[in-house]
Amino acid sequence: MSRPRIVLTRRWPAAVEDVLRERYDLVANADDHPFSADELAHALATADALCPTVTDAIDAALLDRAAPRARLLGNFGVGFNHIDVEAARRAGLVVTNTPGVLTDCTADLAVMLMLMVARRAGAGERMVRDDAWAGWAPTQLLGTRVSGKTLGLVGFGRIARAVAARAHHGFGMRVLYYNPSAVPAAVTAALNAVACDSIEAVLEAADFVSLHCPGGAATHHLIDAARLARMPAHAYLINTARGDVVDQQALIDALAARRIAGAGLDVYAGEPVVPAALKTLDNVVLLPHLGSATHETRTAMGLRVVANLDAFFAGREPPDRVA
Ligand code: DGY
Repeated sequence: MSRPRIVLTRRWPAAVEDVLRERYDLVANADDHPFSADELAHALATADALCPTVTDAIDAALLDRAAPRARLLGNFGVGFNHIDVEAARRAGLVVTNTPGVLTDCTADLAVMLMLMVARRAGAGERMVRDDAWAGWAPTQLLGTRVSGKTLGLVGFGRIARAVAARAHHGFGMRVLYYNPSAVPAAVTAALNAVACDSIEAVLEAADFVSLHCPGGAATHHLIDAARLARMPAHAYLINTARGDVVDQQALIDALAARRIAGAGLDVYAGEPVVPAALKTLDNVVLLPHLGSATHETRTAMGLRVVANLDAFFAGREPPDRVA
């Protein structure tokens, strides 16, 4: 019996590609180039499963024209806002993602951004690399203390809770959150976290605001100019969620006018483009979507896709089915 054909749109960790090669007819992307819409359409028409990731726009236009042979979209990543789930359903495709395995590394990175921007780590590193450091001085590169401050979380799912744990137990921070649905009392008690009844309440009370909601139409520009204006001038915004959750131009305006103290960003609207105006600001730390970028986590993400493929092609329900 022929083995299912699996197309990967990008390079995956070698250990995961090896597992896939043993079990499937694997079409890997040796040079790791981002697929064009035509390549995605071809993959959908010729593979049994397509494994895309955040750099692939699997939209209605593509799915409606593709006449897919594929029956599964095994997304490499927890966020799947780049996939039009309704159009996938119409095209008869099951969609899976990779929850859980990137929680710790993404939370670590959110804390890192909070520390980097508050303690001016990016500016300091640039100074050293530029040979511009003339030595220690009492008033040089003074930042803002993180320990003991208030962290506000917008969304309180797995990653937000992991950030809260680090902030509360590691840095003695007070934790506030807004979540659209109720959170079990045991979870909030363990983190001494206080629920707010609106995003505005979080923005007004927090010294650091960290965003942890999914991307997509429902959260597009959730943090707009009006909401940024609710943050105190000493507060910082951290985004490891999705770029279009924030109105990027409104954020640039707020940072440039020092209406907020700074921002730490791992994600952008329209990646990989990062607006020139952001790059000129010294009160923002800019990372290239590194949240899950560790050997351990990227391998675990790949193996999670493998588990979904194995279940699907064995006629079982994939463990991480989202549509
Ligand atoms: C995720 O898993 O959602 C990461 O942001 C990469 O897509």
